Amino acid sequence: MEGIEKKLKLLHEMREKARLGGGERRIAAQHGKGKYTARERIVRLVDDGSFEEFDMFVTHREKDFGLDKQEYLSDGVVTGHATINGRQIALFSQDFTVFGGSLSEMFAKKICKIMDFAIKVGIPVIGLNDSGGARIQEGVLSLAGYADVFLRNVMASGVVPQISAILGPCAGGAVYSPAITDFNIMTKGISYMFVTGPKVVKTVTHEDVTPEELGGSSVHATKSGVAHFVAENEDDSFELIRKLLSFLPQNNLEETPPVSCDDPINRIEDDLNYSIPSDPNLPYDMRGIIEMVVDHADFLEVRRRWAPNIIVGFGRFNGRATGIIANQPAHLAGVLDNKASRKAAAFIRFCDAFNIPIVTFEDVPGFMPGTVQEYEGIILNGAKLLFAYAEATVPKITIITRKAYGGAYDVMGSKHLRGDLNYAWPTAEIAVMGPRGAVEVLYGREMKEMDDEQREKFLIEKENEYREKFANPYNAAKMGFIDDVIEPRNTRFRIIRGLESLAGKRDTNYPRKHGCIPL
Ligand code: HXC
Repeated sequence: MEGIEKKLKLLHEMREKARLGGGERRIAAQHGKGKYTARERIVRLVDDGSFEEFDMFVTHREKDFGLDKQEYLSDGVVTGHATINGRQIALFSQDFTVFGGSLSEMFAKKICKIMDFAIKVGIPVIGLNDSGGARIQEGVLSLAGYADVFLRNVMASGVVPQISAILGPCAGGAVYSPAITDFNIMTKGISYMFVTGPKVVKTVTHEDVTPEELGGSSVHATKSGVAHFVAENEDDSFELIRKLLSFLPQNNLEETPPVSCDDPINRIEDDLNYSIPSDPNLPYDMRGIIEMVVDHADFLEVRRRWAPNIIVGFGRFNGRATGIIANQPAHLAGVLDNKASRKAAAFIRFCDAFNIPIVTFEDVPGFMPGTVQEYEGIILNGAKLLFAYAEATVPKITIITRKAYGGAYDVMGSKHLRGDLNYAWPTAEIAVMGPRGAVEVLYGREMKEMDDEQREKFLIEKENEYREKFANPYNAAKMGFIDDVIEPRNTRFRIIRGLESLAGKRDTNYPRKHGCIPL
């Protein structure tokens, strides 16, 4: 009896020691920066009492650089599994109080173990990142450790959802693990990501830049697109993770569990009938339309501030998670440019990998013209979007609300790229190009002879003629390219019925190692 008491005491003491990470002083410093510790984060993220920890007693093996005298149980990362809203997840949480959360050989082994576990049992992986990068004292062992983690990220991609929260520094090669994961959530004020820090930037390019300017949340949310979400604070980032998970299945062999829905499926929205301005060149907010049709106006927008001319995100129809892609006429007229094409392509591929149906709302004047776009590769980026739509085998429904011009008509989930159901509102304009452009091409010779006044009059007359002929959905409907022209106010139940009819959809691509998407 006495023996076991002693042994239990030792166990409790060791657990207590592990829970202290790098010690009281460093915990206070972490709090002083307005940050939670690795373990506090886990408690705040997962269901109460559900966390099962792995490898609490792991320590590093390196002896040089005084490491033999500095040993911390858990070695700077807390790993294990837990539940979130009753569903299993695997996680790791980097502990900045131990060597600045830097990655050692054993630290990497812990992450790899929990990732292997997650892939084997088919559950999402959540990484809470707060790290000074490779543990300098461990040299190439830590580089090898990073590569081991990257490999798992790649192998898990499209098999289990992977979510990264950046809750501190994430620098150097450390950025590539979150970069491979499906979603990056940054938190205002405390998180930054860059491949090389301000000091190296200064040496190489002579730029003076602060960490925030180089890789803060705002930069990655608006300029690079690396951040899919920006949280106000850490608790907000945990709430975002829980919400995001509610739209996702556990793995690629499952579907997202439906939630019960008390928003009437046959809800009629009269306002939708009047949502498109009578002047086809005026903008309107597509987000408002999405909110009117999804369950309870609940829409989780992804990469909201990057390429706002296209909207992507998750909503539900009759309780079933759905990926939504929509041109946003309120920004750059909803044009498809380089960023918008990449943003939508990435989102479609995620949805397709995880059996999430796709609903597209289309109002697009075409691809963005100009040297900037061409030099940045609009040909290749537009092709990515086309490729993603065409290869996706999940149910695909497209609603054309207004413009579907040119190549963009083909690309945005058309029947020709295996769209399952394509509906148009009576306000739809399906044509090779917009009226002005078309008239200028068709009547260029005649107009050369005219003075300005004659020219303007002629243009208006021909534009009206063109609009009359092509600016409607019926030419496409005549060909069967549109399955039905629907009253806007009925959109919600037409989508729900459509998705129900497609629930048993089976579609495949030819056997191949993988397609060669134009990257
Ligand atoms: C070992 C590290 C460390 C690291 C920080 N620490 N980074 N220990 N290896 N990479 C330790 C510090 O010595 C310190 O120990 C504690 O963590 C906290 O660090 P501070 O500097 O006091 O904190 P702060 O002022 O908040 O600055 C955080 C930081 C800074 C910005 C992250 O520490 C920093 O610049 N670290 C180095 C970052 C870096 O260059 N990493 C290598 C990148 S290259 P004590 O004992 O005082 O608590 C890379 C290659 C990977 O990652 C390639 C993979 C393919």
